[in-house]
Amino acid sequence: MVIYQIYPRSFNDTNGDGIGDLNGIYEKLDYLKDLGIDAIWMCPFNSSPNADNGYDVSDYRNIQPEFGTMEDFDKLLKGMHDRGIKLVMDVVVNHSSNEHEWFKQSRSSRDNPYRDYYHWWPAEKGKPNYRYSLFDPKGDAWKYDSTTNAYYLHYFSEQQPDLNWENPKVRQEVYDIMKFWAEKGVDGFRLDAFQFAAKDTTFPKLPDGYEKNFFEYYAVQDGLHDYLKEMNEQVFSKYPVMSVAEGAGRNFQDAHDLVDASRNELNMAYAFDGVDVAQYGGYELSKMKQVFSKWDSAFADQGWLSVFLSNHDQARMVSRWGDDSPEFRAPSTKMLNTFILSMRGTPYCYYGDEIGMTNIDFQTIDQYQDIAAKNSYQKAMMEGEYMELFMRKLNFSSRDNGRTPMQWNTFQNAGFSTGKPWLPVNENYKTINVEASQNDPNSILNHFKKMVKLRKENLVLIHGTYELFAKEHPQIYAYTRTLGQEKMLILLNFSKQVTSLKLDENLALEEVLVNNYENVDLANGTVSLKPYQGMVFRLK
Ligand code: NOJ
Repeated sequence: MVIYQIYPRSFNDTNGDGIGDLNGIYEKLDYLKDLGIDAIWMCPFNSSPNADNGYDVSDYRNIQPEFGTMEDFDKLLKGMHDRGIKLVMDVVVNHSSNEHEWFKQSRSSRDNPYRDYYHWWPAEKGKPNYRYSLFDPKGDAWKYDSTTNAYYLHYFSEQQPDLNWENPKVRQEVYDIMKFWAEKGVDGFRLDAFQFAAKDTTFPKLPDGYEKNFFEYYAVQDGLHDYLKEMNEQVFSKYPVMSVAEGAGRNFQDAHDLVDASRNELNMAYAFDGVDVAQYGGYELSKMKQVFSKWDSAFADQGWLSVFLSNHDQARMVSRWGDDSPEFRAPSTKMLNTFILSMRGTPYCYYGDEIGMTNIDFQTIDQYQDIAAKNSYQKAMMEGEYMELFMRKLNFSSRDNGRTPMQWNTFQNAGFSTGKPWLPVNENYKTINVEASQNDPNSILNHFKKMVKLRKENLVLIHGTYELFAKEHPQIYAYTRTLGQEKMLILLNFSKQVTSLKLDENLALEEVLVNNYENVDLANGTVSLKPYQGMVFRLK
């Protein structure tokens, strides 16, 4: 399946409050159907005080009022199913919101029945051993709470206390919640930050400076596989649902253990090694090839991968991996979509990347909305970082880049909302928008649709083995996909230079299936590629 990810807050607003809603997605179902995608992963839509835009859930069985009602949800799900589109929902259960009833109870007294739903450390035992928090301005994952003179644990912000998965009651609550949604017809679950759920609750001292490598101590700790097996037994095995975890652990072994079918845990996980290749300052294609090829080979015979270059926690795909200047935005976005949709593994395509939406150019910290941006700014200030560089890096990599409203047309606020959008619309919406793309046969959008169709019509692009070619080529990423007699060659120029590649003699081209330029420049067995040219060939 091709999965399309929607950040509901930013997709389409139908009631003019500046915030996207479920009816907004419903309104665009024909557009989504037309893309050819099979499933939608929708970022959290449960009730939330929005400390982290829904990744802090205060009621797992309800709909975020800003997004609509349960009736709206039912209507949306039916509309999706009527069109053959499946829904994958986000399940955020490494932590809840501090406004969840469980936490309110838990913090109210030490003998409250919900006390053990979270991780508490009594202050009379002294300060607990340091735990690094990803979002805390001080980097401290323990928050002192005077109500009961104790500290609670939060790997993310202090509004996101971590649930105690050692407690069987917590686990049962979560399975019941998942069953509730599965009964409603939800087709899949994306487990947010779940690789962090298991903890050594004695909280031993970790080596000094461990936070630079916190993953080793946080991801896939003892107990996690047991929880997943139990979840599988109680939920996944009982309903026709898929499961995917955010995070694939510390190494290939972890990743396999999460997804190998014989272990009955998850169907898929997505790792960050791929996106981590591209940071502020650019990236090396050789490194990208190496990482994606390594991941492919680790799952060549068993297990399954996910492929993505962006999501709601990342900068925009073209600004990060391609070139978002007017000259190269279209060819480079098309080339990148060719990549995602021709690799082995389930492609996750992020809303807006099908029209080449770009990063937004925020200059001052008050323009940012994201808690991660704000808190890391505070941390950087406290630590005396060079703030000019910090702001440049934030400008490039902030998660807000990937969250600006969808650009539908040239009307007010890009057709996203009649009210003031919660996050500004990118000023380039007059040229970059769905309507303009629909009207242009050579648009990024039409190229995207072509690639989705090609993938769906050719099993070789789904199951075919992947083989890297021209490994050392500094600009071209070249690989074949092979299934039985079927063979395809993918050639991608990741640079703005014209460059060429001599094809091996055994690669006899039969037909060009997709090309983001008009022509193929081939002479004497050498293909010359224009800036960001990307092509898929059928081989003889
Ligand atoms: C990962 C989510 O993708 C991200 O958006 C969120 O901030 C953290 N988990 C915490 O839930």
